[in-house]
Amino acid sequence: MAMASFRIYGGLVYPLLALAFVCHLAWGKHSGVTRHYKFDIQLKNVTRLCHTKPLITVNGQFPGPTLYAREGDRVLVKVTNHVNNNVTIHWHGIRQLRSGWADGPAYVTQCPIQTGQSYVYKFTIKGQRGTLWWHAHISWLRASLYGPIIIYPKNHTSYPFPKPHHEVPILFGEWWNADTETVINQAMQNGGGPNVSDAYTINGLPGPLYNCSAKDTFKLKVIPRKTYLLRIINAALNDELFFAIANHTLTVVEADAVYVKQFQTNVILISPGQTTNVLLTAKSQPPNATFLMSARPYVTGSGTFDNSTTVGILEYISNSISSSPLMNPTLPALNDTSFAANFSQKFRSLASKKFPAAVPQTVDRKFLFTVGLGLNPCPKGQTCQGPNGTKFAASINNISFVLPTTALLQAHFFRQSKGVYTTRFPDNPPFPFNYTGTPPNNTRTLNDTRLKVIPFNSSIELVLQDTSVVGPESHPLHLHGYNFFVVGQGVGNYNPRTDPSNFNLVDPVERNTVGVPSGGWVALRFRADNPGVWFMHCHLEVHTSWGLKMAWVVLDGNGKSQSVPPPPKDLPSC
Ligand code: C2O
Ligand code: CU
Repeated sequence: MAMASFRIYGGLVYPLLALAFVCHLAWGKHSGVTRHYKFDIQLKNVTRLCHTKPLITVNGQFPGPTLYAREGDRVLVKVTNHVNNNVTIHWHGIRQLRSGWADGPAYVTQCPIQTGQSYVYKFTIKGQRGTLWWHAHISWLRASLYGPIIIYPKNHTSYPFPKPHHEVPILFGEWWNADTETVINQAMQNGGGPNVSDAYTINGLPGPLYNCSAKDTFKLKVIPRKTYLLRIINAALNDELFFAIANHTLTVVEADAVYVKQFQTNVILISPGQTTNVLLTAKSQPPNATFLMSARPYVTGSGTFDNSTTVGILEYISNSISSSPLMNPTLPALNDTSFAANFSQKFRSLASKKFPAAVPQTVDRKFLFTVGLGLNPCPKGQTCQGPNGTKFAASINNISFVLPTTALLQAHFFRQSKGVYTTRFPDNPPFPFNYTGTPPNNTRTLNDTRLKVIPFNSSIELVLQDTSVVGPESHPLHLHGYNFFVVGQGVGNYNPRTDPSNFNLVDPVERNTVGVPSGGWVALRFRADNPGVWFMHCHLEVHTSWGLKMAWVVLDGNGKSQSVPPPPKDLPSC
C-alpha cells in the first residue's frame, strides 16, 4: 500500500527522454535529460487513526509522488493549485545554482501560487546525487505536501558502495487529527505552543501502537542476504527522531545528498529537513522472528511534545509472521544529548579524489548568530498562553524575522527593497551574554525583515549558538541554495579564541541542515558562489513560525554566469 505511492509520474518521463536529448543538443545547458512532472495540488480525503479529513495533496497522493532524476538533468515541475490555500513548493537541498526563482519559500523567492494558478519550477541538478525531498513552503502546509527527490548518479557512474538489491524511501511524517492550518493559526493568535501531533508516520502510516491504526502499518519485505538502500527522510514538522530496526545494523553512506565515509550504527538520529541513506543487509537465514522498526522523538526543549512511537515491520519473505515473535529495537532516551553529539561527529565527507571536500581554508567574513526561543510580553488587550502569560517568540541575533507581503528576491532583483527589507541584520549578537547560562532580563526580540548582504564568492564562517533563554534546545538549521561544511561543534558558549584550533578543515561533513546542539554551538563554512536571496531557518516548523529565520542576499559577481537571471514569465505575483 505504502509502496504504491512511490511511482514515477505518469508514463511521461520516458517518452520525453528523446525530446530532452534534442534540447540538450540545441541549448547545451545541462548534461542530462529534461524530466517533466505535473503536481496538481488537490484535496483528498485521508483516514488515519479513524479520523478522516480532507488533506491537501499532490495528485491525490499521501505522501506525495517521488521525483526521480539523474545528476545533470533538468527538472520541470508544473504546479497547479486547485485548493483554497496559497501554495509554494520547495526542493529541499537542491542547490538551485542561479535558479533561485525556483527555490520556493513563500515571500522569499516567490509570491505564492494562488487558487487556480500554475507555476513551472525549472532547475538543473548540478553536482548532486542522492536523496533529497520536496515540501510545501508556506505556513504548515508541508504537513501533508511532501515527497522524496531521488537523484541517481550520472549514467555509467556507480555508488561508492555495492549496488543494493532494492532501494526504499522511508519518510517520517507527523499526523494531526485536526486541521494543521487551524493548529498553527490558533497558536500564533494565543501566543502559546501549538497542539502536538497525534502520531508519527512512516511513509504516511502510523503503525500498530496507535489506536485504530494496525492496518496502517508500513512493511518492508526483504530477502535473506540481500542489501537494501533505505533513503530516509525526516519530513516531520517539529520533531527530531531516533530510528532503529530491531537486531539489524545500519551502514550510513550518505547525508543530505552527499556521500559520507561509511559507518555502522544501530540507531540513527535525523532532524526535520535532513536525509540519510543507509544500507541494510538482511540476515542470511530467514529468522524465526519479525523485526520492528521504530521512530520516536529526540526532545531537548521544555514544552509539550508528541511522545509517541511509530512502528513499521521488517518482514523476511519466506517467513511466516503469525508464528514468530516480534522483536523491538532499543532507542536512546528521549533527551539523550550525548548520543546526539556522538552521532553527529561520526559524519565525515569522503574527501577523496573523486569526491573532494571543498572546505574553505580561509575566511572572508565571520558571523556569530544566536538561535533560540524567547518570551515577549503579551500585546495589550490580549491574553496569551505562553509561560506566565507571555507570548512565544524565536529569533536569530534577537531578530524575529517577519516575512514581507511581496517576495524578497523580486525586491532585490528589481532594486525595490525600500519598504520591503533592510540589510541591517547584525553580524553578532546585539548584546553578548552567557548564552547557555542564566539569561539576563532583557531578552526581548525585535520583529523585523532584516537581511545580511554578502559579496559573491566570499568565504563565510557562520557560528550558530544556541541560547537557553527559555531553555536549551536543539535547533536543526537549514540553509537554502547551499551546502555548508560542519567544521566544528561544542557545548556551552563558542570561544572564538580557542575553538577554531579544533576545526576540521579536512573531511567535515557537507550538508544543508545541521542540528545546533542543545546548549551548544556549531561552526559552518561555505563559499557564497550562488547569487540570490537565500532563506535560513530552523526546520522545526513551530520555531520558524515564531520567527527563527532570516535571509542572506548573495550579490551578483562580475562574470557572465555569476548573476541572478531575470524571473520567469509565469512567476506568481502577490
Ligand atoms: Cu525544507 Cu526552508 O526548508
Ligand atoms: Cu528551532
